[in-house]
Amino acid sequence: MKIAVFSTKSYDQEYFEKNNKHYNFQFSFFETALNIHTVNLTKGFDVVCVFVNDTIDKKTILALSANGIKLVALRCAGFNNVDLEAIKNNNLKVVRVPAYSPEAVAEYAIALILTLNRKTHKAYNRVREGNFSLKNLIGFNLHNKTVGVIGTGKIGASFCKILKGFGCRIIAFDIYKNEDLLSLGVEYMQLNQVFKQADILSLHCPLNEGTKHVVNKRSIASMKDGVMIINTSRGALVNTVDVIEGLINKKIGYLGIDVYEQEENLFFEDLSEHIIQDEHILRLMSFPNVLITSHQAFFTKEAMDEITMTTLENINLFKNNDMLNNEVK
Ligand code: NAI
Repeated sequence: MKIAVFSTKSYDQEYFEKNNKHYNFQFSFFETALNIHTVNLTKGFDVVCVFVNDTIDKKTILALSANGIKLVALRCAGFNNVDLEAIKNNNLKVVRVPAYSPEAVAEYAIALILTLNRKTHKAYNRVREGNFSLKNLIGFNLHNKTVGVIGTGKIGASFCKILKGFGCRIIAFDIYKNEDLLSLGVEYMQLNQVFKQADILSLHCPLNEGTKHVVNKRSIASMKDGVMIINTSRGALVNTVDVIEGLINKKIGYLGIDVYEQEENLFFEDLSEHIIQDEHILRLMSFPNVLITSHQAFFTKEAMDEITMTTLENINLFKNNDMLNNEVK
């Protein structure tokens, strides 16, 4: 099996090579993302392995098919960047890593909440410069606060369990109720009620037509004044322009994002010597109560092992014509 791995960073290569010993697949690692402009690189390969910001749209799929690619192996859980209808029409298959470490993302969402609230990132810099003042570092207790969770799948459920330890009241919206969480005391309610009652709102649902821009001008207007919004799921769950407006008029008290709607032009790259052209991210970066990270919630040793091992096993099942447990249809 000849596998072209796109959007590769040194750590991807390290973990693939470490876990490939058992399989002996032939990898070629490309730093570039896979899209219509780079699809010619896939000639001569059997499989492409891609990540969150590769664009597997209709045109790319037609070219992949013409190049003889039979399998798209996503090394992530979300598959919003793949045109599944075009995949089906061209007899390709898609596999993903449905659950590699929900705890990695859930714990990271907690890290964003605690950092934004208790301002440890600011305190760290202050103390390094000999500034021991507490001015403007005041936070609030998480104990007894109401946290709204949208999407209580694997990550959302792990997040709720951690929050329970902080003594939070947890309210949630999902199209399916999670029985475990009900017995933990999580209260399911209508989405508009979650928006209305939450002191902290955290997004853990996938991006699809029903969830795109779920945080928008209207939903923000219904939230509590000073609400904290956390997004570790997908950038387009949030309407960036509306959130900027909510921050300017102080309706939103804190924003923590690990994902961003236009992240494919920015995230995972060192752009420190470039002039950033994206006006929205620059505006977001200017707020003292906004914390932005570059899609790193998944990034733990355990998750990297799980991601590469599951991806290798997905490809192995395909190679052996076995049933694909993790196929996306
Ligand atoms: P999951 O599939 O276990 O859970 C998703 C939940 O969202 C399900 O319970 C589903 O019923 C619910 N849902 C679907 N449509 C909904 C809607 N319209 N409103 C409310 N809930 C809805 O997925 P998992 O593993 O918990 O991941 C959630 C998302 O987290 C992924 O789709 C991905 O976008 C994101 N993610 C982000 C990572 C990062 O590094 N920042 C890493 C991994 C995942």
